[in-house]
Amino acid sequence: MNLQTGAIISLVLTVGGGILLYNPRQYAWIGNQTGYSPRQPIEFSHKVHAKDNAIPCEYCHAGARKSPVAGVPADAVCMNCHSQVLKASPEVRKIADAVKRNRPVEWIRIHKVPDFVRFNHSAHVTKGVACQTCHGPVETMARVEQTRHMSMGWCVQCHRQYTKNPPKGMKNVQAQVECSTCHY
Ligand code: HEC
Ligand code: HEC
Ligand code: HEC
Ligand code: HEC
Ligand code: HEC
Repeated sequence: MNLQTGAIISLVLTVGGGILLYNPRQYAWIGNQTGYSPRQPIEFSHKVHAKDNAIPCEYCHAGARKSPVAGVPADAVCMNCHSQVLKASPEVRKIADAVKRNRPVEWIRIHKVPDFVRFNHSAHVTKGVACQTCHGPVETMARVEQTRHMSMGWCVQCHRQYTKNPPKGMKNVQAQVECSTCHY
C-alpha cells in the first residue's frame, strides 16, 4: 500500500469512527434518554423506602456527598433492615439469596453520561443542588425513571444560570463552562 492509499484509508476510518462516536443513538442503548425505566432484578420501590418509610437518599447513596459517584447500596445495606423486615417476601428473599451465594444483585444502570464527560456528584450535592433537580421526584417512583435528557446544553445552561443568578440560599456559585471542566 502506498502512502496516499494509506492516508485515504485512515481518513475514512477517522471520519467513519467519528460518525459512530457522535451518533446520538449510541447513548440511547446505554440509557441516556428521558423515560428510560428498565425493570430491575428486584422490585425495589423508592416510594416505599424514601417516602413511605422516610429513609434518607444518602443512607443508601452514601457516595453522593463525598465522591464523584453516588453509588448503589451493597446488598448488606438492604439486609440491615431485611434480616428482620418482610423476611418471607419472595422479592426480599432474592437479597438474602444474593448475600448467601456471594453474587451481588446486578442493578441496571439508568443515568449515564458518555465516558468522555466528567461528572461529579459531590461538587453539586455539597453546594446544595438537590437530587430531585437532576433526577426528578425519585421518592414518588415505584420504579426509577430518567426524567431529564442529560445533554451538554442542559449542563451548560444550568452552570451559566446558577452562576449569574443562584437559587435562594446558595451563595458564591462559580460553575465553570470551560470545556475542560467537563471533558477530559
Ligand atoms: C433503601 C435504599 C435506597 C434509598 C433510601 C434511596 N435509594 Fe435510590 N436506589 C437504590 C437502589 C437499590 C437503586 C438501584 C435500583 C433502582 O434503580 O431502583 C437505586 C437507584 C437510584 C437512581 C438511579 C441510578 C441509576 O442507575 O441511574 C437514582 C437517581 C436514585 N436511586 C436516587 C435516589 C434519591 C434521590 C433518593 C432519595 C429521594 C433515593 N435514591 C433513595 C436504593 C435506595
Ligand atoms: C432502613 C430500613 C430498610 C432498608 C435499608 C431497606 N429496606 Fe426494603 N423495606 C423496608 C420497609 C420498612 C419496607 C416496607 C415493609 C412493609 O410494607 O411492611 C420495605 C419493603 C421492601 C420491599 C417490598 C417487599 C414486598 O414484598 O412488598 C422490597 C422488595 C425491598 N424492601 C427491598 C429492599 C432492597 C433491595 C434494599 C436495599 C437496596 C432495601 N429494601 C433496603 C425497610 C428497608
Ligand atoms: C447536577 C445534577 C445531579 C444531581 C444534583 C444529582 N445527580 Fe445523580 N446523576 C447525575 C448524572 C449526570 C448522572 C450520570 C453520571 C455518570 O454517568 O457518571 C447521575 C447518576 C446517578 C446515579 C447512578 C450512578 C452513580 O453515580 O452511582 C445515582 C445512584 C444517583 N445519580 C443518585 C443521586 C442522588 C442520591 C443524588 C442526591 C444526593 C444525586 N444523584 C444528585 C446528575 C445529578
Ligand atoms: C441544576 C444545575 C446544574 C446542572 C444541571 C449541572 N450542574 Fe454542574 N455544577 C452546578 C453547580 C452549582 C456547581 C458548583 C459550582 C461551585 O462550586 O461554585 C457545579 C459544579 C460542577 C463541576 C465541578 C467543577 C469543579 O469545581 O471541580 C463539574 C465537573 C460539573 N458541575 C459538571 C456537570 C455536568 C457534566 C453536568 C451535566 C451532566 C452538570 N454539571 C449539570 C450546577 C449544575
Ligand atoms: C458543564 C459541562 C460541559 C461543558 C462545560 C462542556 N461540555 Fe461538552 N458535553 C457535555 C456532556 C454532558 C456531553 C454529552 C451529552 C451530549 O452529547 O449532549 C457533551 C458532549 C460533547 C461533545 C460530543 C458531541 C455531541 O454533541 O454529542 C463534544 C464534541 C463536546 N461536548 C465539546 C465541548 C466543547 C468544545 C466544550 C467547550 C466549549 C464543551 N463541550 C463544554 C458537558 C459539557
